[in-house]
Amino acid sequence: MRFSKDLVEDIRSRNDIVEFIGTYVNLKRAGSNFGGLCPYHSEKTPSFTVFPATQSFYCFGCGAGGDVITFAMRSENLDYAGAVEFLAKRAGITIKADDEGERGGVSRRRIFDMNLSAAKYFRACLFDERIGKEGMSYLVNDRKLPMSVIKHFGLGFAPNGFGGLTEHLKKLGFTEQELIVGFLCGKSQKTGRAYDYFRNRVIFPIINTSGDVIAFGGRVMDDSKPKYLNSSDTPGFKKSKNLFALNYAKNHCSERLILCEGYMDVIALHSAGFENAVATLGTALTQEQARLMAKHTKQVIISYDSDEAGQAATRKAVRMLSEVGLDVKIIRMEGAKDPDEYIKKFGKESFARVLDSGRTGFEFKLETTLAKYNLASPEDKIKASGEMCEYISDIFSGVEREVYIASVAKRLGLSESGLKNDVEILRKRKLKQQATKNSNDARMSAMGIGDNINRDAAKNIRAKSAEEAVIGLLLMFDEYRELVVKGTVRLKKEDFFSEFHSRVFERIIGLAESGEYDFSLLGQFFTPDEMGRLQGLEQKRRALTENGREVFTQCVKALKSEKSLAQSGDGIDEIMMLLERKRQQNK
Ligand code: CTP
Ligand code: MN
Repeated sequence: MRFSKDLVEDIRSRNDIVEFIGTYVNLKRAGSNFGGLCPYHSEKTPSFTVFPATQSFYCFGCGAGGDVITFAMRSENLDYAGAVEFLAKRAGITIKADDEGERGGVSRRRIFDMNLSAAKYFRACLFDERIGKEGMSYLVNDRKLPMSVIKHFGLGFAPNGFGGLTEHLKKLGFTEQELIVGFLCGKSQKTGRAYDYFRNRVIFPIINTSGDVIAFGGRVMDDSKPKYLNSSDTPGFKKSKNLFALNYAKNHCSERLILCEGYMDVIALHSAGFENAVATLGTALTQEQARLMAKHTKQVIISYDSDEAGQAATRKAVRMLSEVGLDVKIIRMEGAKDPDEYIKKFGKESFARVLDSGRTGFEFKLETTLAKYNLASPEDKIKASGEMCEYISDIFSGVEREVYIASVAKRLGLSESGLKNDVEILRKRKLKQQATKNSNDARMSAMGIGDNINRDAAKNIRAKSAEEAVIGLLLMFDEYRELVVKGTVRLKKEDFFSEFHSRVFERIIGLAESGEYDFSLLGQFFTPDEMGRLQGLEQKRRALTENGREVFTQCVKALKSEKSLAQSGDGIDEIMMLLERKRQQNK
């Protein structure tokens, strides 16, 4: 049976990988990921990692990896179709024999229509004096929102009934199945009755840049939990690919966007005249959202909460946004926890000044580091200096390093030459580590050692790394797959040296051409071991900061020139000879 992209998306979103793998492996949180002992090879220190953001896993020890379907295949000893069925059943999803493109027979368009009707219903409830009194009072009195803003954002109210919305939408001709798929209603386990998903909450519609209502967020009006409830992913909505209020901000952000954590921050900012504010939808910033921002603007001002969690999220966001080529600034709000509170306390003029005094990523790093240590203590000063040198040693530009060294020297009262020396030592060490690693990798694969998956990798080492980069990037970004599908970047399966990469390329592009690309769908063509390799290739790219379009086109170019070299007769032999010589020297 052929499975659709929507189906595997549904399966993934309802079988959270951390929760699922957690039933087999004892996982411990490590930063934003989870680690544990690898179930596929024996080890004493954990190298098995689960990444919630990409819903994937990878073992840095043995190279096992993939998505939740791959894990189920391995752990339950199932084939691809068996694993899909296993996970579907586990999540209560019925797979229809004719599952093609739509989820449970519900199209995007249908979901949007249903959401629009729901938004109108929520809004009517809010403005109904009897039904919406509590919601309106919360928005107007507690959150101090003017009526114009409430209307502009299309805010609403979900009454505390059982099935008001469900009844209403059924009358309009939507089926229960459609309501369930669209996350507007759930089904009681006990009675089997359908009930409204959002109850007794004020409602924030989420609207995409084409003006469709794609999802909802709902907030309680007191301190009960959960504070917010959001639609999960549906055929028309992916949390990780959308930003709240981008539909409005897109017309005001050619220069810069303000990125906040919450719905209320964005609404407060827009109503104070900062119409270029957006927020992620209750998740950490994703690569897709960073790219989306890069499409609309040049600079992003991160305006996350001033608490510890907000600052940790800021550090990650700085990196992600810089990676996609955005200019990043970070602001600090003294005396308030978030932009909403700041504007209420100090006014919009004051916030405008804060925006203009935004710090760069480096300044942010410097200040958060200095704040951690007691600089009167020599030990602490050494630690602070070490941390800053580490940060600076990763910076590519020599001029930039110099500027930063000067600024650290000044703040710590140390000599520039001393710091420069430390930075250089770190850089040398890192370069050497990288070089050793590269040459080890090259030697291993030159001799065909340890590569049971890409068996002919040894044919051409240089091509191998170019191929790996190209595949990694194709796995990572829609945009690059598009370039190949549209023919903007010319690449064919014959351009690849290794049979494995050629096959992978063919499948990725095949899915992309039919508009059905999804990493999980590759699982039907490749073994779990091969999926692990693919996960590894993507992982390797993610760990690098340079993943821009130029890198992609350069790698494609390198790959093609290897091929033409090989066809002209030199190339492979020449490289093998060089490698052989190097191996002799290293002995
Ligand atoms: N969030 C969520 N689910 C929760 C808590 C938060 O989805 N249980 C998301 C919401 O998108 C929220 C954002 O994370 O807007 C930031 O959370 P928080 O700072 O707690 O909320 P605020 O926006 O500050 O909300 P408020 O001002 O209404 O308390
Ligand atoms: Mn808040």
